[in-house]
Amino acid sequence: MIFRKEKIEGKFIKIAQEHEVVMQYIDKLKNISKQPAEKKMAQLHELWPAFQSDMKHHYKIEERFLFPAALLTMPSIELIDMMLTLQKEHGYSERDMARMKALLDSQTVDTASVSQLLGTMIQDLEEHARIEMEQLFPQMDKNKKCRELIRGILLES
Ligand SMILES: [Fe+2]
Ligand SMILES: [Fe+2]
Repeated sequence: MIFRKEKIEGKFIKIAQEHEVVMQYIDKLKNISKQPAEKKMAQLHELWPAFQSDMKHHYKIEERFLFPAALLTMPSIELIDMMLTLQKEHGYSERDMARMKALLDSQTVDTASVSQLLGTMIQDLEEHARIEMEQLFPQMDKNKKCRELIRGILLES
């Protein structure tokens, strides 16, 4: 929907860029996961504060604007199910980001745990983004009321 660039106007650009940021982060994490241990730790250290705060912001935008707009304009059991799952996954992701932060800040270097957690997080993030981009957002894109509602919310905020 709002992620289709040619259709974006005004404040819509903000959210479109939001999701691009998520995809860029997934690429960055994949890249880092292929690095040797020492480099991996250093790059994660550098990336983590911005990654953690950007992702939290992204989840907030989805939960505050996009999910409610979808539920209000296309109420169905399936969509409620999907929203609850996506929202729960945001929570898991925030928990994993905090776990990683603790591992990175720890005095004892545990690269095995870092690598394992990183792998899990990449997989989870990719799957989460795939469901949003392939299943949720196209449905929202097709619904005129939903598009109008989001435009209204965004112009007010
Ligand atoms: Fe999400
Ligand atoms: Fe998202």
